Amino acid sequence: MEKKFHITTFGCQMNEHDSETLAGMLLERGYVQAKERKDANIVIFNTCSIRENADKRFFGTLGQLKKKKLEQRENFTVCVCGCMMQQQHIIDTLKSKYPWVDVIFGTHNIHELPTLLDNLYNEKQKQLSVLEEGGEIVEGLPAERMFKHKAFVNIMYGCNNFCTYCIVPYTRGRERSRKPEDILREIKELAADGVKEVTLLGQNVNSYKGESETEPGTCDFTDLIYLIDKVEGIERIRFMTSHPKDLSDKLIKAFGECKKLCHYFHLPVQAGSSRVLKQMNRRYTREAYLELVKKLREVAPDIAISTDIIVGFPGETEEEFEETLSLCEEVRFDSAFTFLYSVRKGTPAAEYENQIPEEVKHERFNRLVEVINRISAEKNSQYVGKIEKVLVDGPSKTNSKTYGGRTETFKLVNFRGNPDMAGKIVNVRITSSNTFSLEGEVVTE
Ligand code: 5AD
Ligand code: SF4
Repeated sequence: MEKKFHITTFGCQMNEHDSETLAGMLLERGYVQAKERKDANIVIFNTCSIRENADKRFFGTLGQLKKKKLEQRENFTVCVCGCMMQQQHIIDTLKSKYPWVDVIFGTHNIHELPTLLDNLYNEKQKQLSVLEEGGEIVEGLPAERMFKHKAFVNIMYGCNNFCTYCIVPYTRGRERSRKPEDILREIKELAADGVKEVTLLGQNVNSYKGESETEPGTCDFTDLIYLIDKVEGIERIRFMTSHPKDLSDKLIKAFGECKKLCHYFHLPVQAGSSRVLKQMNRRYTREAYLELVKKLREVAPDIAISTDIIVGFPGETEEEFEETLSLCEEVRFDSAFTFLYSVRKGTPAAEYENQIPEEVKHERFNRLVEVINRISAEKNSQYVGKIEKVLVDGPSKTNSKTYGGRTETFKLVNFRGNPDMAGKIVNVRITSSNTFSLEGEVVTE
């Protein structure tokens, strides 16, 4: 029987990229990728545990497969992996309530999927492989990219920061940086395969510390960017995510010097009150954050800045929440991801007593979104009339004549295009703007 797999990915770009690796490994071994979950006989869920609703969504979707699994038995395989699997209470729940799941593996065991499936089919028994901490970084895994012209590249794994609300340090382990030569080799191969844009991934890329085998000394994040800047064929460099406490003047300077470094910065602020930031263990103040934004704009006046904000962190007062609003007005973010604080079992903030009632959180959330969206729309409207370099992703899902792509500042632009343009950088004159996107027309001259 043909082995057809389908991967459902929850969560961040790290997970998206892990799923690309899972797909790459299976395709290399002759498995086939199904477009839709219903057509697959191997279903894989790559989970996220950043917030509670991510957990709920996963269990909801998984539950829908029970009937099919019990009917088709060994002809239908269910695999679950990702951040949720790094938590013992989740494994316990799976074992007691979802005993029909065939394969469970953690974030440190991605490379084992093919072996786990072989074992399952040969030994006819369930496979569980979850390591508490990541060991050696596994190099050379294939990845099935979503786009021909752009790619994610992991530069480091894990996080050492222990923000008091966050589960990631527990699910992804301590920081481990890849060697600069391994990263460069991968990026050169990607360039040779037609990739024009790389997004460097890590939970906190600013604390990247590469130890080279051939060059003495360590390679920091900015050094790495300068190295990638020299790779022929690569035209755009992006990265995420950054931690303000580790954002160096050296990196800021690179925005003025590296031609390929896109003028876009995702810099999660989380809150506008220095007291709340301290409770979150963020290790910077409101003032320090504002200073970073100022410096970035001095070097690159056109830089787009986006952020993450949590509302309703335990103990957040109305005045402190208003400090978040005023910070948004001061910075004028191009866009922001806004989150209701969500209790994560095992994190310090889950034990804080002064949790904020749901209705207060929601009310603050709505007020914040209003401010964020108003500013996003104003920022976007400043693009009207300008000509922007857009890397074309391809036709839209709903209209084959409408093409989408991103400006250097990561703005989504829709325009009338043709298949020749996909994967190329074209000049687009911006004709109108919305809250989350721009409209334009290709300039042919
Ligand atoms: N509740 C709400 N938002 C959270 N984030 C991380 N943990 C939590 C939590 N417990 C948000 C942060 C982070 C983004 C990826 O998710 O804003 O930057
Ligand atoms: Fe979580 Fe903080 Fe690490 Fe980001 S820096 S992954 S928010 S602990």
